This record gives sequence, C-alpha cells and structure tokens, in this order.
Amino acid sequence: MKALSTTGGVVMNKLTLTIFGGTGDLTYRKLLPAMYNLYIKNQLPKKFLITPIGRRDYTDTDYQSVIEPWISEFAQVKVKDEQLQAFFEHIHYFRMDFTAQSQYQLLDQYYEAHPSENHVVYYAVAPDFFEGITDGVSTMENMHEPKIVLEKPFGASLELAKFLSKKLETLFGSDHIYRIDHYLGKEMVRNILTIRDANLLFKNVWNKDNIDHVQISALEEVGVETRGNYYDHAGALKDMVQNHLLQIMSIVAVDDPTGNMNEQQLAVLKQLCSVDKLKIQDTLLLGQYDGYRHELHVDPASTTETFAGLKLFIDNERWQGVPFYIRTGKKMARREIEVKITFKRQREDVDPNVLVIKIQPTEGVYLEFNIKTPGEDSITKAQMDFCQNCNLIFKLNTPEAYERMLHACMIGDNSWFTKWEMIEYSWEYIDALKLMYSDANLPVYTYPQGSVEPKELSQLYHKDFEQWN
Ligand code: BG6
Repeated sequence: MKALSTTGGVVMNKLTLTIFGGTGDLTYRKLLPAMYNLYIKNQLPKKFLITPIGRRDYTDTDYQSVIEPWISEFAQVKVKDEQLQAFFEHIHYFRMDFTAQSQYQLLDQYYEAHPSENHVVYYAVAPDFFEGITDGVSTMENMHEPKIVLEKPFGASLELAKFLSKKLETLFGSDHIYRIDHYLGKEMVRNILTIRDANLLFKNVWNKDNIDHVQISALEEVGVETRGNYYDHAGALKDMVQNHLLQIMSIVAVDDPTGNMNEQQLAVLKQLCSVDKLKIQDTLLLGQYDGYRHELHVDPASTTETFAGLKLFIDNERWQGVPFYIRTGKKMARREIEVKITFKRQREDVDPNVLVIKIQPTEGVYLEFNIKTPGEDSITKAQMDFCQNCNLIFKLNTPEAYERMLHACMIGDNSWFTKWEMIEYSWEYIDALKLMYSDANLPVYTYPQGSVEPKELSQLYHKDFEQWN
C-alpha cells in the first residue's frame, strides 16, 4: 500500500468504505462486524473511514447506538468497549437520498474534505437502486477509481442484470467490479480444493471411476424472516442454488484444483448436462414450508419455493454419469452445510468409503472406511471425524466470509470474486429448469417446518441411496 499522503493540509485516508444501504440488515449483520474484526486484527490501514449512507436523520452518536448491539452480537472477536469506541472514530454516517442525483454533489464535497487513495463502494441495497447509484457515483470527482462491490440479486431479470453489468464495467473498468458470493469466502469451501489436491488418497480417485455420487446440502433453520419482499420473487433456486451451491458444485468438480478458479469453474458450468437432454421430473423438485404464505410481505397465494432439490450431471470425461445431488431449504430441522462424496463399492459386501466436507456450522472433515471387526473375520465401518473449528487457535485464525472478501477487495485481489460470464451461465441454466418445471405443471410440495426435505424428494435419489439424513 502507498504511503500516507496529504492534500492541501487534509490528511488523506488510505481507505474509505462507502456503504449504500448503511441502515440495512446486511450492513448491521455482516459488513460492520466484519470491518470490526479486521480492525481488531490490524488488517486495516491506520487511516480508514467507513461512511454508511442512509435516509434516516441520525447523528454519529445515534448511529453508534444502533450498530453497537449488532457488532457485539455478530463480530467474531470479543468486543471490548474501549476498542469499539476507537473503531467508532472511523465511522461517519452520511445522510442522503441516494435516489436523488443532485445529492451526489454533497457526497462529492464530503469526499473532497475526506480524500482517499483507495475507494471501496458497497451496494448493500436492492438491485433496483444499482443503476441510480452507479450514475451518481460516476459523476463524482472525488471518488477516484472506486472498486464497486455488489452481490446477488444483480437485477430483477437477466436482461437488466446484463445491462447493468455492462454499464458498470464501462464506467469503472471490469477489474474494479467485485461481485461477491460470500460462500467463496468460507474456509471449508476453499478447503475442498486443498483436501482434494494435497492428499493422494483423494487426488487420484476424484472421478467417475471411483466416485458413485456427490451430495451438496445446505439446510437452514431460519425462514424468510423480514425478507419476504425479496424472497418471494427469488425463491430457493435463485437465492441459494444459482449462486452459492453451483459455486460449491463447480469447485468440487473442477478439473485442475490448482488452476485459475474462474476459468475452471466456468468450464464445469458449461459442461452441465444440456437442459434439452433432461427429464425435468427426474432433475428438480420444489417445496414450500407450511406457513410460508403467512410470512410478512409474502403473497398469501405464493407458489415460491423455499426448498429445492436437484439431480445434475456434468457431461465431461471426469464426471460422466455421476449424479450431483443438491438440496437446500429454509425452516429445516437443523442448520447444516456440507458436501458428501460417496465412493463406489469395491465389492458388494463392503460399504463404500464416504468423505464429508463440513462447511457450516461445524467446519471439518469426516471419513468412513472399512476395517476388520476385532476378533472376527468380518468387516466393520470405522469413522474419523475431524472438527476444525473445535480447535480454538484454528477457529480464531479463520476469518468470517465477509471479512475475507472485504479484505480481498481492499487490497485489490479479485481472484475469488465471480466473473459476469459465470453468473450469466448459471442464471440461464436455472431459469431454464424453472421454466420446464412450471411448463410440466409439477407441484411445489408443502413440507412441515422442522423437516430435512419434502418427503417426495426421495423420488430423485432413491436409486443411489435410501435416505438423505
Ligand atoms: C444468502 C441468502 O445469500 O445466504 C440467504 O440470500 C441465506 O437466504 C444466506 O440465508 C445463507 O448464508 P450463510 O452464510 O448464513 O450460510
């Protein structure tokens, strides 16, 4: 990073983070706690300024009292009052209506008085506002070469998202657009590549000859909470599958775990079995939790899915014929994200080896293998269960997903941010599946809250395993 400098007697900030949506859930729950973690871990430059933007008439003191409980609850590090007060010194709330173009002049004047060498601008708002903010920011003289961070949903439709993406890249440069998928910041998602590549045990058997099937499961206990407005338009397919879970699937399936991830993952997506070769009733199953239609801001007649189960295939040399099962749902019996790899049976009387990469809430690796039953000639199953976040040192050294992604953005490392082409490809694929599902008049099954899947899901997987626990 460049040395601290000054302009006209004003001290130059090495970093400024501007958050559009400074009074929103994402800012409170994820962004500010992540910035606090980075601050405590000395990973921010000495001079930095966080400017949350909102319409509410808050003074800095009001804003601090709003965010204090959120940071205390969600920061990974223990919050100490003195440090928190010192962190607050770096936060200045800025009141503005970001839908009014004229107000960007005021923001520009503010940055004239608080100049910076490194501008990060976070769009923590609904996609309807992206274009207006883009227009406004692009006119600002004191917001030099900003890095723009945004996350899904990128637009109400693929057409709008494409248009916006092009506009952002034209105005700010493609290297300055950081499309976040926070799952790519999760420690165990990254560990998938290492576990595969650093162990001969797995490296040479990571293919259709040895792997029977792969299960990727993302269960959440929470429902839609206060996000009914957004969720009822998105549904589980767009909220979780199109981005986070296809990311995980493509990471598991890359050809070269040491290669360029963006290129490798895109190659996998392009090899997903073409939709016209699929029978939709064997590929997709949708569900909705009982009571969803009574949630706040949800259409009482909604058919939006809160659960999606998929059986996908990758048409390439490595994975031909290996089913990849994906399931995700809200209001499930437990919170659990994991990837389970079941190897082929080497003999009928011997159980298959099973490798589970646990992503959340437990981070770890579980392995099942066969041994001789002590004192007998038969074979029995042994289980090895490694819990990474049970180790306090490992736990403390593991950054939260947002912390890692924000830090990467600040230092200009966009290698783990998603390129537009990948988003576009997965968007088209998921849209096509969804359309086939409704064209075939397939039902959205109701499931009770606190289950792990609609019972009908077993139709998709019963040929490969009996129960998905
Ligand atoms: C978000 C989805 O992208 O990911 C939410 O919009 C979901 O609906 C969340 O709850 C899950 O993230 P995490 O990190 O809690 O697994």
